[in-house]
Amino acid sequence: MNTLIIYVSIHHRNTEKVAKVMAKTLEAELTKPWGITPKELLNYDLIGFGSGIYWWRHHWALLKLVDNLTRMEGKKAFIFSTAGMNIPWYNHRQLRRKLKEKGFQIVGEFSCRGWDTNGWLAKIGGINKGHPNERDLERARRFAEEVKVGLKD
Ligand SMILES: Cc1cc2nc3c(=O)[nH]c(=O)nc-3n(C[C@H](O)[C@H](O)[C@H](O)COP(=O)(O)O)c2cc1C
Repeated sequence: MNTLIIYVSIHHRNTEKVAKVMAKTLEAELTKPWGITPKELLNYDLIGFGSGIYWWRHHWALLKLVDNLTRMEGKKAFIFSTAGMNIPWYNHRQLRRKLKEKGFQIVGEFSCRGWDTNGWLAKIGGINKGHPNERDLERARRFAEEVKVGLKD
């Protein structure tokens, strides 16, 4: 199983922590949207897409990469994020829709809180300080394990 995780983590490297734990569990390669061409994605059986949530959606570079893909009929994907306000059904909606439009089969979604000092929040030291914490990362590891086991069936 060839697995790739594509992520963006620009605020506090919160999402990078999650991406690394998942990559270890899934024996996946890690890259950024600007480190891969749409054509190269064809080499992978499973692709994880994740970033922090910036203005209620994933990072624009991740969304743009998906826009530039050809149809990926039946290729397996998962979505992940970290956010100040962890509301995945809402925060993931754009990426989820775009992936589905391209024919991906979404095998799971993961999200957790991430330290957020955006804007005025910096004045109060931010919210979710310390997140993702050990517990969040253990949840991420278990999520990746479930994806792995699910794909064997
Ligand atoms: C410019 C900017 C915009 C953000 N917008 C949102 C938002 O709309 N909703 C939210 O829940 N968190 C928002 N956040 C908080 C981030 O999603 C959160 O800190 C996340 O863990 C950052 O991940 P990263 O460190 O991997 O970049 C925003 C942060 C920044 C810097």
